[in-house]
Amino acid sequence: MHVFIAGGSGQTGSLAIENLIEQGHTVTALVRNPSIVSSKAGLDLIQGTPVNRADIEKCFARRLPNAVIVTLTPAKGVFEDGSSFIAHVTQNIVQVMQQFGTSKIVYLCAFGVGKSYSNLNFLLRGAVCATPLGTKFAGHEEAEKLIKKATGIRSVIVKPAMLKNGEPKQVEYLGEAGEKASFMPSITRASVAKFMVEALTSEEWDGKSPVIANVQ
Ligand SMILES: NC(=O)c1ccc[n+]([C@@H]2O[C@H](COP(=O)([O-])OP(=O)(O)OC[C@H]3O[C@@H](n4cnc5c(N)ncnc54)[C@H](OP(=O)(O)O)[C@@H]3O)[C@@H](O)[C@H]2O)c1
Repeated sequence: MHVFIAGGSGQTGSLAIENLIEQGHTVTALVRNPSIVSSKAGLDLIQGTPVNRADIEKCFARRLPNAVIVTLTPAKGVFEDGSSFIAHVTQNIVQVMQQFGTSKIVYLCAFGVGKSYSNLNFLLRGAVCATPLGTKFAGHEEAEKLIKKATGIRSVIVKPAMLKNGEPKQVEYLGEAGEKASFMPSITRASVAKFMVEALTSEEWDGKSPVIANVQ
C-alpha cells in the first residue's frame, strides 16, 4: 500500500511512518522541513504544507496513495473563511482525496472531542473549558465533521487518551464515546501509531471514532 501522511515530522507521525515502512508499505510525507525527518528507503519526503492544497496535489500526482494518515496538531490560526488551521487543512486533504479517488483516511483526534467530551474526568473537562485545549478540541471536532460528511471517504477518527512516550503496549477500546474510560487513561504514541496503521490496512474500524488507551 502507498500512504500519504500529513504530520509525518511529528512524534506520532514519525512512528506511523516507521511502522508503515517496517510492514513493507511506502510513504509520501508532506513536511514543512524535510531536514528534521530521517530519510529511509520507501519514504518520499516532499517539502510543503497541507495549508496549501497545491502542495497536497503535488504529492498525489507524484505517486497516488491508496490511503491517508493525518497526525497534525491543531495549530493556532484562523483562515479568511473563519475555519481553524486543522479544519482548513483537513478540508484540503479530503478535497484532494476526492479529486484523485483515494478513499481511506485515518485521522489522529483526541479523547474528549465531540461526543467523548462527557466521559472525560472533571479536571480535563475544566481544562477544555478554561484553556487553549478547548480551541484545539473545537478544531478537531470541525475536522471530524468534515471528514464524516465527505462523499466517498471511509474514515477512522482515532481518539487516544493522554499521550505518553514509550514502547507500544496493549491497546484497549474504550467505546465510541470513551464510556469505559478510567479516571486518567493514557497511551503511548507508539501504541497510537501502531493502531492507526492497523486501522488503515483493515476495515475493522471504518466509519468509527474509537477512543483508545493502553490497558492500565
Ligand atoms: N498531548 C496529548 O496528551 C494528546 C492526547 C490525545 C490526542 N492528542 C492529539 O495528538 C496530536 C499531537 O500528536 P503529536 O504529539 O505526535 O504531535 P507533534 O509531535 O506536536 O506533531 C505535530 C505535527 O503537526 C505539524 N504542524 C504543526 N503546526 C503546523 C502548521 N502550522 N503547519 C503545518 N504543519 C504543522 C508538525 O509539523 P512541524 O514538524 O513542521 O512543526 C508536526 O508534524 C494532536 O492532534 C493532539 O490533539 C494529544
